[in-house]
Formats: sequence, C-alpha cells, structure tokens
Amino acid sequence: MNQGTAVVTLDHVDKRFDNGLLALRDVSLQVGAGEFVALLGASGCGKSTVLRLAAGLETASAGRVQAPALANEVSTASADTAFVFQEPTLMPWASLFDNVFLPLRLAGVPRGKAALRVREVLQRVGLGEFEAAYPAELSGGMKMRASIARALVTRPRLLLMDEPFAALDEITRQHLNGDLMAWWATQAMSVLFVTHSVFEAVFLSQRVLVMGARPGHVVAELAVDAPYPRAPSFRMSALYMKTCHDLSLALDAAMRASADARPAGTNPVATTRPVSGSDAAAP
Ligand SMILES: Nc1ncnc2c1ncn2[C@@H]1O[C@H](COP(=O)(O)OP(=O)(O)O)[C@@H](O)[C@H]1O
Ligand SMILES: [Mg+2]
Repeated sequence: MNQGTAVVTLDHVDKRFDNGLLALRDVSLQVGAGEFVALLGASGCGKSTVLRLAAGLETASAGRVQAPALANEVSTASADTAFVFQEPTLMPWASLFDNVFLPLRLAGVPRGKAALRVREVLQRVGLGEFEAAYPAELSGGMKMRASIARALVTRPRLLLMDEPFAALDEITRQHLNGDLMAWWATQAMSVLFVTHSVFEAVFLSQRVLVMGARPGHVVAELAVDAPYPRAPSFRMSALYMKTCHDLSLALDAAMRASADARPAGTNPVATTRPVSGSDAAAP
C-alpha cells in the first residue's frame, strides 16, 4: 500500500488505560484509501481499542494515530468516519427512516433534503419497503442492515465495524458478508473490520492483521489475493481454504504466545486459550 494514501495510520502506538492496564503495545498499522482490512484476534486482545483509537474515541498513550476523525473539526468528523457495533443500537421509538436519518439530522440536514438519500440507502441495504417500520418489527439481520444504512448515509471515508455480525446466525451472516462487499465496492470507502472469525476475515478482506494479547499487538499479516466481487463460490476455492488454513495457524500461534505471556500463578483466561490442543489441561 502506498504510504501517501493511508486513511488510518497507527504508528508505534501504546494504550494504557487509567486503571494501569496496558491494552496495546507498539501497534503499527495502516489502512489505505479504499482498502478493506480485517483485524482478527481472540477476545480481549485489543481490537475494539484499536477501532476506538481510529475513531478518535480514545487517545494513544504513546505513538501516533492519524485518522479522518482526528484531522477535522468535531462537527465534520462524523461524516468522515462511521462506526458499526455488534449491537445495532437503533432507537426503538423511531421508525427506520428516522433511525437512518439521525446522523444527517445531527449534521443539520433538513428532513426534506435528506429524504432522497435516506430512501436510497435503505433501498441499497434491502430495506426499501420498511422505512415506516420500527426496530422491534425487524429480525436481527434486518436491524443490522438498518444499522449499516445509518452508517453509510453520511458517505463516510472510513467505516469501522466491530464484530458487526457476531450475534447473527450463519446464513444471515453470509448474506450480509456478500452484501457488505457490494456496498463497499460502490462507496469508495476504507473499511477496518474487527472479527474473531477466520472465515469471515478471509472472505471479506484484502488484508488480515492478526492480533495477539497481553498486551495487544499485531503479530502477523496475510494478504488475500482474490479479485472482487467474490461470489459465494469463493468459499469453496483452493485459495480460500489455503488462506483460512494459514490464518488459523497464525491465530493459534498468537493465542499460544499470549497464553505463555500471562504472569506466573494467574489462571488462564478461557477465551484466549486454544480451543483444543494438548495443553488444554495444563495447570
Ligand atoms: N476503558 C477501559 N478501561 C480499562 N480496561 C479496558 C478498557 N477498555 C478495554 N479494556 C481492557 O483492554 C483489553 C482490550 O480490550 P478490547 O480492546 O475491548 O479487546 P477486544 O475488542 O479484542 O475484545 C481488555 O483486557 C479489556 O478488558
Ligand atoms: Mg471488542
């Protein structure tokens, strides 16, 4: 990736929280203009902290962060960066239209002027018929579509997604994976996508950064050299399977290294341990 086109740069970043916990140590990464990058790692390794730094919601304790949200006045930052969380976080008392309209309303765009764009983005995520519906009337997948519509409506330069599909069933998740790629392709935006699924990371992204824990750091990087659009049949390809295999090994190595790094005498944390393996019963 060309250095000059980076949308997000973390340069030797440490993050220590007020309680003394060192969540990230010496993290360096970049996301290029228009690039789709996945951040893969076990629970607790600092993925959300990286996203929050990139969104300007946290400040680094050491090192340098460059991102659209930090380059502009607060009033314009929201249009440059959008954040999608695992929970759709829709306003239950508002219609889908009003939920998606919210970021434009906060930016001072009048309802009448925004209507076309809100309807267009609802259409794009497959919810064109549902603008008058309330969140409680929607399935989990539809709520996530609405949440993504609300992110896309500002036409952000950077989309930060924190395990957005982790709570969805596998079939819904695969549909949304396919659709997300299509939305990304038409929107000329960079995506930094956090997941703990190897398969999701490989299916979606051009590059995968693997994180290890204690403290969080990037341990490996893999390119996924497959063209877009990627059809569902990509999941059956030799390249996909080989990349998933390589990435699983890298993730496993990262988790083992993190487990070894725990202070003597402390209990292993289940979520950062290998799921299976000869050391599963280690003291
Ligand atoms: N505001 C905070 N104060 C103290 N510790 C935090 C805070 N936010 C996260 N942490 C800790 O930092 C580490 C990384 O957290 P997080 O970035 O949420 O990891 P992940 O998203 O990979 O699960 C964890 O040990 C977590 O408990
Ligand atoms: Mg997280």
